[in-house]
Amino acid sequence: MTEEDAPQLSVVVPTYNERENLAELLERIDRALRSSGVRYEVVVVDDDSPDGTWRLAMELSMRYPVRVIRRRGRRGLGSAIVEGLRAARGSYVVVMDADLQHPPELLPRLLMEAERGADVVVATRYAPGGGVEGWSRLRLLASRAAGMFAHALLPESRRTSDPMSGFWLVRRSLVEGLELRGESWKVLLEVLARAPGARVAEVPYVFRRRRRGESKLGPREMLDYVRDLLRLSEYRVLRFAAVGATGALVNLAVVAALGGRLPDPVAYALGWEAGLTWNYLLHDAWTFRGRRREGGLLGRLRYWLRYHAAAAAGFTVYMAVSWAARLLGAGYLAAPLLGIAAGFVANYLVSEHRVWRPQGG
Ligand code: GDD
Ligand code: MN
Repeated sequence: MTEEDAPQLSVVVPTYNERENLAELLERIDRALRSSGVRYEVVVVDDDSPDGTWRLAMELSMRYPVRVIRRRGRRGLGSAIVEGLRAARGSYVVVMDADLQHPPELLPRLLMEAERGADVVVATRYAPGGGVEGWSRLRLLASRAAGMFAHALLPESRRTSDPMSGFWLVRRSLVEGLELRGESWKVLLEVLARAPGARVAEVPYVFRRRRRGESKLGPREMLDYVRDLLRLSEYRVLRFAAVGATGALVNLAVVAALGGRLPDPVAYALGWEAGLTWNYLLHDAWTFRGRRREGGLLGRLRYWLRYHAAAAAGFTVYMAVSWAARLLGAGYLAAPLLGIAAGFVANYLVSEHRVWRPQGG
C-alpha cells in the first residue's frame, strides 16, 4: 500500500454481540466522513461474538471500507482496543463503541481538533454542551465520582473532563511509541498516563441511551476500574500513605530521644519537623520519583519548602475536621481519627497536584 492509499482516519470499533447495531453504525460513519471528504477505514475488533457480529462485519465490508479482526479464545475490551490501534493505518485513530451511544456524526469534529494540533481528542460528556441521556441520579453520581477519582489519583488525566470516555481520537504516531497493555477498559487513561506531554483537546457530546443489545459493563468492571487506576498511578497514593506512617514513627522517635532535655513544645516541634523532612526525602526519592523538575540542591530545597505547604494543608484540615467532628458529637478519639484521615487526603492531594505536579498534570 502506498502513502496515497493510506487512510487519514481509522475508526476502531470493539464489538461483542453488536449485530443489531453494526449496519446503522457503518452507514452513519460513512455518511459523516464521506460528506466531509475524509478517507477512512473502520477496524472492527470482534471477540468471536456468538451472535456472529464478525460475519456481518465481513459482509458489510463489501459496501464500506471495513477490516475485521476476529479474535478467538480471547475476550476483553481493553485488549481489543489495543489490537485495533496496532492494526490501524490512518494518521489518526478514533476509538468508539458500536452501540450508537457514541454519535458517529461527531467524527469530523474530532478530526478537526486533531488537525488543529491536538494529539488526543476526547469526546466528553462533562463539558458544556455535553451530557448523558436517560441516566438516573445515582448512575450520574457514580460516573462523576469515578471521574473525580481518576483526576485525584492520576494528575495526567486532568487534561480531560471525561477521563473514562470510551470515545476518543489519538494521533497514530503517538500510540506507536507507547507501551499499551490494554489490561483495563480504560485505554484512554492509559494513553494519558503514558503520554504526559501530549496535547489534549475535547469535544462535547451527549451519550445516548443504548437502544439495541446489552451493555457489558457490570459491577465487576467497576471494581476493576479502581484496581486499574491504582496500577496506572503506580500505587502512589498507597506509597504516600506508607511513607506517612514511617514519618509518624520518626516524629515519635525524635521526641523520645530528646526526652526531657528540651521544653515539651520544642521537642514536639522538632519531632514534627524531623518527620516532615523524612517524608519529604522518601516522597522525593520514591513516591514521586522522576517528578521533580528542578535539579540540584536548590531545587530540592525548594521542594522541601513546598512540602511544608502540603503538610500545613494537612494540619489545617486535620484541625478543622477533628474540631467539627467533635462538635457534631464524635468521640474524643474518634474525632481526631477522622481528622487524620481528612488531613492525609489534603496532604496527599497538595503533594500530588502542587508540589510534585507532573508535566501535563
Ligand atoms: N471486542 C470486544 N471484547 N468488545 C467488547 C467487549 C469485549 O470483551 N466488551 C464490550 N465490548 C464492546 C461493545 O460491543 C461496545 O461496542 C463497546 O465495547 C462498549 O461496550 P458497552 O457494554 O456498550 O459499554 P458501556 O456503554 O457500558 O460503556 C461505554 O461507554 C462509557 C462512556 O463513554 C464504554 O466505552 C466505557 O468505556 C465508557 O466509559
Ligand atoms: Mn454502550
